[in-house]
Parts: sequence; C-alpha cells; structure tokens
Amino acid sequence: MKPCRFLILWILAFLSDVCFAQKMQWKEVNPGVWKAVIGKPEAFNLINASGASPNQNALQQLARSGFPFKSEEVSGKISDAKTYLSFPLDREEQIYGFGLNFQTVHQRGRIMQLHVDHFGGKDNGRTHAPTPFYVSSKGYGVFINSARYLDVYAGTGVRKDSKNPPVAQDRNTDKTWSARPYSDAVEIMVPAGGVEVYVFEGPTPLEAIRRFNLFNGGGCLPPRWGLGFTQRVERLYNAEDVKREAGEFEEKGFPLDYIGLEPGWQSKSYPCTFEWDQGRFPNPKQLVSDMLAKGVRLNLWLNPYVSPSSSIYSSILPYTGSHTVWVGAVPDLNTTQGRGMLFGKFKKEAIDIGISGYKIDEVDGYDSWLWPDVATFPSGISAEQTRQTYGLQMQRYTTDIYRQKNERTYGLIRASNAGGVSYPFVIYNDYYNHEDFITALINSSFAGVLWTPEVRASKSGEEWLRRMQTVVFSPMAMINAWSSGTKPWSYPEVTPQVKEMAELRMQMMPYWYSEFAKYHFEGTPPFRAMNLEEGFKTEARKVTENTNLEENPYLEAVAKEVKDQYMAGEYLLVAPLFAGQQTRKVILPKGKWYDFYTGAYAGNGEIITVTPGLDKIPVFVKDGGIIPFMPKKLHAPKAGEKTDIEFRHYGEKPGRYRLYDDDGETFNYEKGEFSWREIRIEKSKDGSIKGSVSSPQPGKPDNLGAITWKSMTR
Ligand code: GAL
Repeated sequence: MKPCRFLILWILAFLSDVCFAQKMQWKEVNPGVWKAVIGKPEAFNLINASGASPNQNALQQLARSGFPFKSEEVSGKISDAKTYLSFPLDREEQIYGFGLNFQTVHQRGRIMQLHVDHFGGKDNGRTHAPTPFYVSSKGYGVFINSARYLDVYAGTGVRKDSKNPPVAQDRNTDKTWSARPYSDAVEIMVPAGGVEVYVFEGPTPLEAIRRFNLFNGGGCLPPRWGLGFTQRVERLYNAEDVKREAGEFEEKGFPLDYIGLEPGWQSKSYPCTFEWDQGRFPNPKQLVSDMLAKGVRLNLWLNPYVSPSSSIYSSILPYTGSHTVWVGAVPDLNTTQGRGMLFGKFKKEAIDIGISGYKIDEVDGYDSWLWPDVATFPSGISAEQTRQTYGLQMQRYTTDIYRQKNERTYGLIRASNAGGVSYPFVIYNDYYNHEDFITALINSSFAGVLWTPEVRASKSGEEWLRRMQTVVFSPMAMINAWSSGTKPWSYPEVTPQVKEMAELRMQMMPYWYSEFAKYHFEGTPPFRAMNLEEGFKTEARKVTENTNLEENPYLEAVAKEVKDQYMAGEYLLVAPLFAGQQTRKVILPKGKWYDFYTGAYAGNGEIITVTPGLDKIPVFVKDGGIIPFMPKKLHAPKAGEKTDIEFRHYGEKPGRYRLYDDDGETFNYEKGEFSWREIRIEKSKDGSIKGSVSSPQPGKPDNLGAITWKSMTR
C-alpha cells in the first residue's frame, strides 16, 4: 500500500473513532439518580413501556454519596448503528444483578445476552427478568434503559486503554499464565444508535438498589390476603371440586387465602378464550361469592394468546402480531385497541365478578413457541422489544383495571423487566430445582422483582417439608398442584410440621406486611441477598473454588459466593436445608444473632454449623430485632379488623420496629390512608423487657388490638 493511501485510511479510522465517540454528559434527574443520553435513544424503552414513575419524596430521604465515577471513566460510542458502553471496575469490586439469575450471585467475569426467556439451566442472560441493572459492591448501580437484547461483558474484555492493564505472560514458561487476563471494565452493547443510561448513588449497594426501586415507583404493596397461603388446584377441576377443596382446608384447619384455577376454568386454552367453561363452571359469579363468603379468593391462570373461539378474536385480529402462539393471536399491547379488547375481556368475565388476580403464563419463552424475532406488530414496536416487555406490560395493564376498581391484586407472572417493581406480581417457573430456587430468591433483590420457590410435589416427605419451609419464607406461600394434585397434607409423615409452617406464615403476617410496606415506601426488597447486609463477610475465596472466574488470578481478594442463605425483612436471616441435608454452615454477619425459635444466642460475625432436625428451617434474628406475631388464623385479617399482636424481642439491644397499617385491600394508602406505629422495647439488666407503642395518629388506620410483649432471649 502506498504511504499516502495508508495515511488517509489511518486518518479515516481515527476520525471514525473520535467522531462517533460521545462524551457522556451526566445530569442529576432525581436525588442521587444520574442520567446520560448517548446518540439518539429509541422512543420505546423499559421506563415508558412499564409506565414507571419515580417516588420523588422517598428518593429525597436517602443518604447521598455523589456520582461514583470520574466522568471520563465511563465511555459511550456509537458505531455500526449500535451503542457501546464501558464502565470501570476496580480490582476488588464485585458486581451483582443483570437479572433474575438462578445459579450465580457474583456476576463479575460473566458474558451474557439479556433476553426474556424461560430459564434454560444456565445463567447466560436468558431469564424471566433480564433486568439491565447491576449493583457494585462499592455501592452504586447502573441501569441501561433499553428494551433490546443487550450483550454484557461483565469484566471480561481487556481494553488497550485499560487503566490497570494486565501484563502479557509467557505461557511457555509462566505457570501463572491465564487464559482470562484481568479486565477492569463492564462493557455493554446496545443494538440501537443511542440509549439512556442511569447511574444510582449509594453509599451502600442496598442504598443503590433502594434508589433504583424508588426511581421505578417503589416496590408493590400486596393486599394482606396476598401474603396468606395459596393453593393452585388441578387443571381440570370444576366448581364443585374447588368448593370441596376449600372445605377440606377449613376442616383440617389449614390456612387458605386464595385458590388458583389453572387452564380448565376456560372453555379452551393454549390459546385462550378467557371465557368460563360452562360445563365445569356453570355459575362463576355464584362460585366467587360463595368462596368469598368463606374468606377464600380466586385467581385465574391464563396466557394472553387469543383463541379463534374467543368472542374477541375477530375484533382483536387487526391489533395482533404477524405470528401466532399455539395458533392464538398475540395482542399488540402497544395499541390502545388491542389492549382495550384484551383487558376489557378480563374485566367483564372475571374482575367484575370478583376474581382477585391472575397468573399470567407463557410471556417469557421458549423461542420455539413464542413469536419469532421476525414477527411484526401493528404498533411498529419490534418483536424483540415486544418480547422484552410483554410480561411487564401485562402486569401494568392488569394492575390498572384493579386500580380503577380501587381493589388491590396479587398474582403471578412468568416474565418481567426493569420498571416492573411496583406491580403486584411474583415470578415463578417450571424449573423446580430447590437450591436454584433459593439463589433466584436472592437475585430477585438485585432485579426489582419478586420470586416464589413454589412447591409442586416431592419425592419424599422430607423434600416436601423442606420446600414448604422455604416457600413460607418467600413473597408467595404457594402450592402449585396444577398437575400433581398435591395438598399440604399429601405427605402424612410430615403433615403436622407442614401445618405448623403454614400457621407460622399467618402468624408472621404483620411482619411480612410491614416489610412489604418498606419495599413500597422505601425501596428495600423484602427478600434480599446477604451481600446487601451490613457486616456480612465471607472468607476470601480460593481462586480454584470459583466457578466462573477460576482462571482469573487477580480476583483472589473477592469473597466467596453465598447463594443458599438470605435476609427476610429487616431482622431475619434464613438458611434453608435441602432434602438429604442434616446439617449446614451458616454465615452470620457481624453483630449478635439469635435463634428465631428459642431466642438463644447463635453467634457473631462467624460461621456456625447447625443441625436443626427436619422440623425446623434455620432462621436467625439480629440483636434487638422485634418480630410482630398475630394469633394463628385461617385467613388474613379483613379491612378494619382489629388484630392482637405479640411483639417478640430478641437479644440484648433495645428494640425498635416500625409496624405498618392500612385497610389491606384498597389503594387508599396512595392517598395517605396508612399509618406507621413505632414499637420500642427496652431490656433491663434482670432480663425483663418494657415495651411501648406510639399512639395512633388521629384519622389514620388503626387495627392494632391487644398487645403483648415477649422476651425471647433469657
Ligand atoms: C405452565 C405453568 C404451570 C401451570 C401449567 C398449566 O406453563 O408454568 O405453573 O400453570 O402451565 O398448564
């Protein structure tokens, strides 16, 4: 090549790099929330698809720590109609998040494509909620507001302009040579010519998450009954079967707040008619009111794909995608007409007669039956963007109908994404690996979603009980018997213990409800990773023990991954056992911890070994923790019903608890009709305790009945 031609090519290459590289201008858009716009972002994104809007007041209350990067450390570049983003990573920094992962908590060193899908057995980005948000152990969060499939290189690529470049090693002679040299960047490729990027201040990782959740409106506040026990019945049950089943729960004294009807409530399903099967359910309205009279609500399964036999089929067709799912039409939720017809049908057939909520299935994957990426939709929103947001929008518009009726709902969904945190839906799937279900519960706290480790069936009474123990310490205490027909008493050898767990769930309702209120008003996830807990430290990991970074010698100081214990609410640490285990190790963060059942001292900033027996799931309470307990009940307290509460105090420190109250059923709390009561407990040297409760605020909900105090630690 002639020298001058070479020079021209070099100048062109240089210019293309410089011209398209964009300086990112950071602007504080909410307290502690920073936004930069690069290139021309697409009009359709996760925030506007979800309709999320920030809770300004709550954001204002959070501590501040400032923009976490030097602005030149974050770079963005548009090339080839794609956006390339790069964020710095420190040597000892760990990152969490990038969606609802099932097998890993530490994400540094991973390559993923964030893509809504049914979890396929590998944390590769394809999951039910591939939220494009990550949190750093240094205490900040990053969110990419795009409804595209995003490629993530979370500390894997080695840039020539790295600040901490690894040294080239000689594999011939150097035994420490690594195939994965040190990387100091998180890099993300957005397949669009621009994007909005948000950075959330800490100071701690938990504060960054709270900020992210509040930015999206705050967590959902389920109705009280949503936190009770729920049974999903066999798929072809009829009205009489449903009534009989509710009767059996009552006879046997098992708590039950709502029953889920599976596909057979409809005249046809897969695709769905959204119409009652007249043979199995001749009078749905009557059934709903008979059940309500017994204190049991009904929830309906569906997938959103419209059967040719549905009365809305021909009218909705022009507002559906080019491709079908199981030959059902796919409503375009970004057309007002498509939306109006679908949700209008839900309202007329079900919500107006008192159905309390939905289980919205099959909005995640698999590729082989969902609409392909070549599908088109009348709104012009691409198949890819529709896939990334379908679950999100199903939650949004379903919640809207309940809001119009001023009734809260609580249901299930198989896909979500950023922006969905305020919608009262819990994610589930068909995967059924108990250990991985707990890891998903941990990761849900980084992804702005809720997850249930649902119970279906088990190989043994032991497994049944172990699963029941974890589901009652989760956002939804559910048996999903759609195919197995199991009941809580299906394994007689453990029935008393299962009953005790279900009762415990009910007794702890004031605690669960208050913790969910903190999710809503303060953004704190009710079920959280240990990594978000102050004073939590694991021993330094040996490089060879690590599964995803085994060849990276630079990360030795990073702690070992913990994916089998979690925080439940403000004070509880839950360390489940799985079938076959008699004993396990529990890592207790710094500070004193006490046994939940006995109040006995358990340890302080150490690893303990527990052998709790089959009847107990190990749970520990932080020093000074107060857990409010109500009497055993079969159903959640109704609006306005007074509830007696026993406040249980653990440890030595003075206790403080904020107990939340409202009507438990409507959206009136959004208009200020709620109250917080401040509970304080002082412990004297002789071990006795003295408790106090702040007075009720005039004109605010006050459902607190008789109060008793219990000192658990003697
Ligand atoms: C599955 C779902 C199950 C159950 C079943 C009914 O897709 O994950 O929980 O509802 O459909 O056919």
